[in-house]
This record gives sequence, structure tokens and C-alpha cells, in this order.
Amino acid sequence: MTTIAIIYHSGYGHTKLVAEAVRDGAASVDGVEVRLHTVEEAGDALDSFDDVAGIIFGSPTYMGSVSAPMEDFFDKTSKIWFRQGWKDKLAGGFTNSGSLSGDKLATLQRMSVLAGQQQMLWVNLGLGNQTSDPDYDGAFEDAVNRVGGYLGPMAQSANAEPGPNNPPRGDIKTAKLYGERFAKAAKRWGVGLIE
Ligand SMILES: Cc1cc2nc3c(=O)[nH]c(=O)nc-3n(C[C@H](O)[C@H](O)[C@H](O)COP(=O)(O)O)c2cc1C
Repeated sequence: MTTIAIIYHSGYGHTKLVAEAVRDGAASVDGVEVRLHTVEEAGDALDSFDDVAGIIFGSPTYMGSVSAPMEDFFDKTSKIWFRQGWKDKLAGGFTNSGSLSGDKLATLQRMSVLAGQQQMLWVNLGLGNQTSDPDYDGAFEDAVNRVGGYLGPMAQSANAEPGPNNPPRGDIKTAKLYGERFAKAAKRWGVGLIE
């Protein structure tokens, strides 16, 4: 069995829906077990990730970067950095914001830099942008990778209650497909150092 972990923060519940979609996509891959943790839980159990093949970080975009609780969690992982405990594990990330752009790229870049500091290997989105496909005739809200980001899934939610179409179906589908891609990569990669 290959185990992967998703560690997320969600202040108001929108990013939580994206996290659950990534979890569902990953769990659909045979032989992969998925652990879903809030940053608060993960920060209190930092040493419990030694046996996972990969970790996916999820955060809303707040003020153009990861949220403060996620940044606080990143600081806590300095304890792992000292012993290079996450070296050669897979890493990935997703975000969700209120605006269509909202500077989400900076959030994913922040996560990928953390992954670099921990000497992890980043898994990108691996999906085209359906909204720029001339043959796509579906609704904008249903399109896969509708905002056209490539480091990881970027969801966008209206500043209203989280629910069945907030974030939109296309963003949830994108998150599921990413979870599946990450889980397949983790299954192939496994746990262990490169050398
Ligand atoms: C403190 C704060 C800062 C925010 N900054 C941004 C931002 O930089 N860009 C953006 O598009 N939306 C921003 N938003 C909107 C959130 O990204 C949006 O409401 C998101 O859906 C919240 O996710 P959550 O429910 O998981 O917390 C901000 C919201 C808050 C509370």
C-alpha cells in the first residue's frame, strides 16, 4: 500500500472542498491510501509523515500567498528540514481564491519553494486548459483547468457559502484529476531516497 497525505488550511470551507476532491481522486487509485489533515493537526504530528510517499499542500490564497496558518505550518517543518526527513518524497499543491487570478500562482510558487527546501520532488498539474481549446463547447464553470495554471490545481470560489458549485464543478474535477495523477506518481515512486 502506498500512502499519501494532504495537508490543508481552509478558513471558510471553500479550500476544504478542493482538498476533499483531491482526496477522492487520489483514493480512486488502487493500492493508494490517502490521509487528509488540517494544518493544525499536521503541525501537532509532524513526525507522522515519515512513511508517506508524498505530501500535497492546500491553502486558500490570502493576500497573494499561502494563508498565515499554512505559513506557520511551513515554519514548523524546519524541524523536519534539520534531519531532511522529507527528502525525495513527492510534493504537490493546490489553491483556491476569490478572484479569477487573485495571484494564485504566487501561492503555488511558495509551496514549491518549500518543497525545494525540503528536497522533495514537485508533481505539476499535467492537464491542458480546456477553455483555450477551440473544440470545447461546454460552460466555463465546467472546464478542466479553466484558469490555465500548470504548477497545480487553481480553484476560484465566489465570496459566498461553499457548496455544490462553489468552487465550480470544473475546478472540483480538476482537483480530482490532480489527486489521481499524484497518487499514480506516488505509487510508481514509492517511499525512499534516490540514492
Ligand atoms: C485574509 C484574506 C485574504 C485574501 N486574499 C485574497 C487574494 O490575495 N486573492 C484573492 O483572489 N482572494 C483573496 N481572498 C479571498 C479568498 O481567497 C477566498 O474567499 C477563498 O475562497 C477562501 O477560501 P477558504 O474558504 O478555504 O478560506 C482573501 C480572503 C481573506 C480572508
